[in-house]
Amino acid sequence: AKPFQVAIDGPAASGKSTTAKMVAQRLGFQYIDTGAFYRCITYEVLSREIDPTDPRNEEQISNIAEQAHIRLQTLFAAASGVSKDQDRILHSLPTTRVFLEEQDVSSQIRTEHVSQHVSAVAAIGGVRQAVLQKVRSIGAQDDARYVDGSPDSKSSTEGLVMDGRDIGTVVLPHADLKVFLVADSRVRAERRLLELIKSGATPAQEKLDIDAVQRDLERRDELDRTRKVSPLMKAKDAMELDTSGLTIETQVDVIVQEVYRRR
Ligand code: C5P
Repeated sequence: AKPFQVAIDGPAASGKSTTAKMVAQRLGFQYIDTGAFYRCITYEVLSREIDPTDPRNEEQISNIAEQAHIRLQTLFAAASGVSKDQDRILHSLPTTRVFLEEQDVSSQIRTEHVSQHVSAVAAIGGVRQAVLQKVRSIGAQDDARYVDGSPDSKSSTEGLVMDGRDIGTVVLPHADLKVFLVADSRVRAERRLLELIKSGATPAQEKLDIDAVQRDLERRDELDRTRKVSPLMKAKDAMELDTSGLTIETQVDVIVQEVYRRR
């Protein structure tokens, strides 16, 4: 049978990736974080000291995007058995490791430096084309593993959860369930700040000030919403979920129930 496809879109820090991972874990589905692709390309572009806001660099950046070899590996908490990773078991939140040319760049792609430039890179048509090809092809293969390393064989056959900005509109236009997450920008800034602190991805010299984080999120949303190629937009047939006042458990429940209802 065709895998059940769940598309989750929404603005920055609306809770997409946490929600998508937990939904995938609950249902035994594969999880694909499409933002990681744009982040990897941005990381590479910045490493080469190319300015993503200069239109003269678009072709070069598109070439980097085409040539980049990006691989995601989602580690689900083991369904049973022993794991040394107590913290992950407790919170049972899967983690995605991101490899660029087989080098683990999981933390490097989450810095504020990358976050500040990713929307400019993601607005380039050639970059979107390249990422579209890559994410559609990995939808067919399976990189999911339990934390003990054993392959999670169920995941790719039963379904997949993909999160991003244009999943319901462009990447998986025929998804079985489309969810559009929204949340107040202050609430999102608070969540992002907590995430940055917890992950330790942000070096001490980077400023951790809530107003700055909120401004950056709003600026990024604006860029994502107004770009010419596949802007951030709610698909006509998407279910909108405002998560400002919801706990993560509740929003996961709502989506999981909806999958059961439609399956
Ligand atoms: O979700 P995340 O914050 O990692 O995404 C980083 C950026 O990648 C977004 O701000 C957006 O510019 C871009 N993106 C996109 N389309 C997607 C996923 C992410 O344009 N499907």
